[in-house]
Amino acid sequence: MKIETLRWFNGRLEMIDQRVLPAAFEYLSYYTAASVAEGIRSMVVRGAPAIGVAAAYGVALEAIRLARHGGISDSGGLDVRLRENDGRADFNTGMEEGFRVLAASRPTAVNLFWALQRMRRVWESVAAQSPETIAERLLAEAHEIHAEDIRINQAMGAFGAELLPDGARVLTHCNAGALATAGWGTALGVFRSAVAAGKKISVIADETRPFLQGARLTAWEMVQENIPVTLITDNMAGYMMAHGAVDAVVVGTDRVAANGDVANKIGTYMVAVLARRHNIPFYVACPLSTIDLNIASGKDIPIEERSVDEVKGFRDTHWAAEGVQIRNPSFDVTPAELVTGLITERGVVLSPDAAKLRALFSQAGSC
Ligand code: MRU
Repeated sequence: MKIETLRWFNGRLEMIDQRVLPAAFEYLSYYTAASVAEGIRSMVVRGAPAIGVAAAYGVALEAIRLARHGGISDSGGLDVRLRENDGRADFNTGMEEGFRVLAASRPTAVNLFWALQRMRRVWESVAAQSPETIAERLLAEAHEIHAEDIRINQAMGAFGAELLPDGARVLTHCNAGALATAGWGTALGVFRSAVAAGKKISVIADETRPFLQGARLTAWEMVQENIPVTLITDNMAGYMMAHGAVDAVVVGTDRVAANGDVANKIGTYMVAVLARRHNIPFYVACPLSTIDLNIASGKDIPIEERSVDEVKGFRDTHWAAEGVQIRNPSFDVTPAELVTGLITERGVVLSPDAAKLRALFSQAGSC
């Protein structure tokens, strides 16, 4: 089954509602930057690369909305007519507001800001053109970011697959799959590529409290794909490693600092420490768009603190004692020294550090 996390359909963005998976599989429709920002904030769409792609479409949708007079044609093409006089100032103000709400949606995944910057550069390059032309150009760029993300995941998958021995039992945390990207996935993309290359791989999925991305999303994706998957609660990872049941760990990431420190879903740091203790390789699948050379080390990565309701219980069921204080940091930082290798679309960077990451960016290559 091909999982289309985001798709452009009849002039609107559709995104799988990941809050209700796996109990229900349904798409929600988006027409404005503000609604896409809300979809990101409320986790309809989540996972660093998918957030970036959604934001790019959010910018394009806003340009279409602002430029439009006649509406969007049924065929999905832009049927836009321009306001003839002083609409330009309104257009620019509206676009700035669109960028602002999208940038404020979630703080940790750098792909969001990477995609917004890329869309802004495109806007600036055609700013003198009509709003209609700007909207068309921005939509084309969003489509390109979407397609490029799948190509990059497949390139990473091929490099990552070589690291996994046939028969490997691989632990992962959170969901870094097709659902977290435009398709294929980063960490789960490595598993898909290994299986496509003929290797027998089995996956151990951490449940990933409190939002349960492992139990709900990674487990669902692997079951759809017929890749053997075993679900454990987060506190079972040490037991599994101590009993020789884990050959490697592969996770995704939301932001890698210039020195190779890795921010990822809360609990990843714990897994990395355990992996080092048990001599198990710890790999991070990481497109270049997730590496932030502007941030020197992991201590400067902004960590999102989400609603305490997520820790109190799940959905409408609350089990925590009333009156207890609750914390809900959504990500943690794994120091570079615990990372065996970063799997990128340009190859694997073993024991990442600042010099190796700088060299990676100066290396030619595109996907
Ligand atoms: O809060 P989420 O679900 O957006 O967190 C997602 C993760 O932490 C993923 O591991 C990360 O974004 C990499 S996705 C390819």
